Amino acid sequence: MKLWGGRFTKPTNELVDEYTASIHFDKRLAKQDVIGSMAHVEMLKQCDILSETEAGNIQDGLRAIAEKIAAGKVKMHVENEDIHMNIEKLLIDEIGPVGGKLHTGRSRNDQVALDMRLYLREELLELISLAASLQEALANTAEEQADTLMPGYTHLQRAQPVSFAHHLLAYIFMLQRDIERLQESWKRVNKSPLGAGALAGTTFPIDRYIVSDLLGMDGICDNSLDAVSDRDFVVEFLANASLLIAHLSRLCEELVIWSSAEFKFIELDDAFCTGSSMMPQKKNPDVAELVRGKSGRVYGNLMGMLTTLKGLPLAYNKDMQEDKEGMFDTVDTLKGALQLFSPMIESMRVNKEKMQQAVSDDFSNATDLADYLVSKGLPFREAHAVVGQIVLYCIQQGDKFILDLSLAEMKSFSDLIDEDIYQALTGMAVVNARDVAGGTAINRVHEQLQTVECLLQET
Ligand code: ARG
Repeated sequence: MKLWGGRFTKPTNELVDEYTASIHFDKRLAKQDVIGSMAHVEMLKQCDILSETEAGNIQDGLRAIAEKIAAGKVKMHVENEDIHMNIEKLLIDEIGPVGGKLHTGRSRNDQVALDMRLYLREELLELISLAASLQEALANTAEEQADTLMPGYTHLQRAQPVSFAHHLLAYIFMLQRDIERLQESWKRVNKSPLGAGALAGTTFPIDRYIVSDLLGMDGICDNSLDAVSDRDFVVEFLANASLLIAHLSRLCEELVIWSSAEFKFIELDDAFCTGSSMMPQKKNPDVAELVRGKSGRVYGNLMGMLTTLKGLPLAYNKDMQEDKEGMFDTVDTLKGALQLFSPMIESMRVNKEKMQQAVSDDFSNATDLADYLVSKGLPFREAHAVVGQIVLYCIQQGDKFILDLSLAEMKSFSDLIDEDIYQALTGMAVVNARDVAGGTAINRVHEQLQTVECLLQET
């Protein structure tokens, strides 16, 4: 008979059991479910709702079940619907009818909300530490490549040269905000809903704060209806995860582009690439592509959760059982991506010469020629036009760039140009000219690296 079978006249249709059960996926919450129950029982004892013996029996039983589950010795049953009722049933089988006292003053509605929060608070810490490791891998590469110049792009057209480290640092700061968002959300996750009962609280003289203290939580959810019907902590996680993987997907896209024969800026290590079943020469950046691709499922999980919650009346509705798979999938997807990303970055080879060549065989110093003319008194708009003419002249000449022109050729466009222009327009001079806080001048890049070092120590 079902744990709730009392008012029913016949067994549930087999298909209904299968359809409404969540045990296939919420078995992942077994550990959290037991931990929550242990705290609940301890509180019931301290509040004299259960005797010492009863509580002791239940806690011993729960421990035994936890061990069996961890050892893979337990079979969960669809007829018992979910992890909560499976464990309660196991407990009753293990210690007899006293096991039935576990659920005193509790509902699965507050129980499942607690399990979800316990699960997420742990995974958030794991994700934060993985994201910090990736920051570290990027920072190490940036440290080594501080003097490596590459073209900076807008519209994927070469724009102005930057230090490669500067480019990597951009991602480190994106990840920093991702980490801060996860840390910030942790506080909201770490509240105890237990004691909200099914929706309205409980008639037993429980103390919700004992449970929250025992579980190391920062207090309780203040309103029982909110406690059992709120899943905004899940939405918040999925939204933060979406941003994180959006950032990763942009870096992935760049890794894919940079490792193409057209760019050849980097080479990903063989250990992080795969081959083709047909084309023997192929070495594909599959990991980067797949992380980029998996951003889709993370966004999908966010949309799915938001849509499930939209318009749901208070308090608990079975719809909310749909909160789990997307959350688990997102945790797994992010972990998989972050775990692979750090070693992929650490083992990547950087082709300094190729990057450098892309900087010198180019017009990405054109802004600096205009700025040079401005420093000689020409209004910027006029300087812009003069340099535009010079660029056009170079293009018409064939394979020429500004520094290939003779001084006489340059002077034919503006008399203000002198010999010192040849020094002012080298890649390194152009980069170092951007000596502004947060700019790409090499000393500013080192400043940023120092900031990152402090941030990493704090995380
Ligand atoms: N398996 C359910 C879920 O994940 C647990 C809560 C069930 N509550 C209920 N009143 N049917 O949402």
